[in-house]
Amino acid sequence: MTSVDWLGILHPVLAVVIVYPLIGIVVRLAMQTRARRLKTLKCPPTVGREHSDLGRWLSASVVLLVLVALTVAIATDKPLMAFQGGAARAAQLLLVLIGTLASLAALWVSKAPGLRLAFVLITWAGVLGLGAQPEVWRLSDDPLSPAFWQSHYWSGVAVVGLMLFSLGAQPEILRDLRLRRLHVTANVLAAVLFLVQGITGTRDLLEIPLSWQASTIYACNFKTRTCPPPASSQPPGISP
Ligand code: HEM
Ligand code: HEM
Repeated sequence: MTSVDWLGILHPVLAVVIVYPLIGIVVRLAMQTRARRLKTLKCPPTVGREHSDLGRWLSASVVLLVLVALTVAIATDKPLMAFQGGAARAAQLLLVLIGTLASLAALWVSKAPGLRLAFVLITWAGVLGLGAQPEVWRLSDDPLSPAFWQSHYWSGVAVVGLMLFSLGAQPEILRDLRLRRLHVTANVLAAVLFLVQGITGTRDLLEIPLSWQASTIYACNFKTRTCPPPASSQPPGISP
């Protein structure tokens, strides 16, 4: 493993070690919150508070997790000296990254509904803007093709949107029954998308070669699923 390979597994490691355990706790507390409100189970009165407090950390950590993936994808696609667009584009993208992080921090502390909505939209726009860069691998951008629905990227940015919605509308979810219902529906979808991310992410991890193997692996034809024979298996005297 080279340092680029280690950077490549930073996002999966953070997902497995931090985000998925947090999802488990938040979903369990969500079920207890609902059961307590409907009086189908006796749960301590703190479950709602704990669900929403840990929910905030879950939302923020999903955004950070995706920003890590996008930054690594953009920064390691080519050697730094061959970075497409040079220092000017690199500085522009760095500004977008810093702006997105600042907007997430502002969303975390904002109280006024208008400000919360604005920071939700700015943070999501930042994620989509970085995700739209040519270095970021997307299976397909055509919603009519099956590959689009199997794309780790598109369900990833969708779940970021759903998490930002919960973070931005937290006070309203507490107060307003309609928003609480919308929250439950949106987050049942989020739970399914987290499951999908676990599957498509592991698939991608299996498909990405180690950096020193890449030149050989990418010589393969991915449509016909064939590879040129390894150099050592060719009879001597015949050049490949
Ligand atoms: C997979 C993620 C999530 C799921 C499945 C989920 C589901 C739920 C459910 C079932 C309830 C109870 C609704 C009811 O009482 O009828 C609830 C309440 C709530 N959720 Fe979530 N939620 C998730 C994530 C989040 C996040 C990320 C936040 C905030 C950032 C959040 C904030 C809240 C709040 C404030 C309540 C109201 C708590 C109360 O009544 O005391 N949730 N959620
Ligand atoms: C909360 C769940 C997750 C979300 C929201 C998420 C989101 C994303 C996003 C938006 C990207 C950048 C686009 C791309 O390169 O495809 C990405 C990349 C990646 N993710 Fe995830 N991911 C999650 C979980 C996982 C898990 C559990 C794994 C593996 C165990 C994983 C493995 C990867 C890999 C290997 C890449 C790089 C793909 C490439 O460069 O082609 N992800 N993820």
